[in-house]
Amino acid sequence: MNDVHLIDHPLVQHKLTLMRNKEASTNSFRRLLNELAMLMAYEVTRDMAMQEIEIETPLEKMKAKVIDGKKLVFVSILRAGAGILDGMLSVVPGARVGHIGLYRDPKTLTAVEYYFKMPHNMQDRDVIVVDPMLATGNSAIAAVERVKELGPKSIKLVCLLTCPEGIAALHKAHPDVPIYTAAIDRELNDHGYILPGLGDAGDRIFGTK
Ligand code: URA
Repeated sequence: MNDVHLIDHPLVQHKLTLMRNKEASTNSFRRLLNELAMLMAYEVTRDMAMQEIEIETPLEKMKAKVIDGKKLVFVSILRAGAGILDGMLSVVPGARVGHIGLYRDPKTLTAVEYYFKMPHNMQDRDVIVVDPMLATGNSAIAAVERVKELGPKSIKLVCLLTCPEGIAALHKAHPDVPIYTAAIDRELNDHGYILPGLGDAGDRIFGTK
C-alpha cells in the first residue's frame, strides 16, 4: 500500500489556499509554489541518509552530520514540475536533476513521452519525482515506470494536490512509491481536472492562459 503523507503544516495550507484563489496573479502563484516546494522538501527529505565528517569549530574538533545531496535526484515532469523544482533545489542545492517530458493527450488523457534525460549512475541514487498535480495519475505512472527502468535505490513522488482517483491509480501501478502531498481534493472531473483544485497548474505557473 502506498504511504500517503499529507503535509498539513499551517504554512503549507495557508499558501495553498492563496494559490487556489483564481484571482492570484501569475507572479504570486509562482512565488507561492516556490515557497511551498521548499517547505515540502523538508518533509520529503526527512529520512535522507546522513554521514559523519570531522570538522573543526573555532573551539575544537568534532564529528558532525552531513547529507550527500549529490545522491538525490529530483525528476521534474515537464512542464509543470519545473514550478516545484526551483524551490526544492534551493533547499538541496547539490541534488542532481532529471527531466521527463510528457504531455496529456487531450482525448485519451494518456501520457505521451517527448523527452527523457537523467543523470548517470541512477542505480546509486534516491529519486524524488515532482509534479504539482497527481490527477489521473497517468503522467506520474509513466514517469515512475521509465525511472524504474534505471534501477534507482528509491523513488518518492511529491505533488501539491491530488485526489482519490490519482492516489488509487498510482497505488495500483506502483504500490512501492510513497506520495507526499499538501492536499487530497474531492474528485476528478471528466476532463481530468481536480475539483475543487486550482485549475491548470502549468498555465498558472507560466501565465499561458
Ligand atoms: N493538471 C492540472 O494542471 N490541473 C488539474 O486539475 C489536473 C491536472
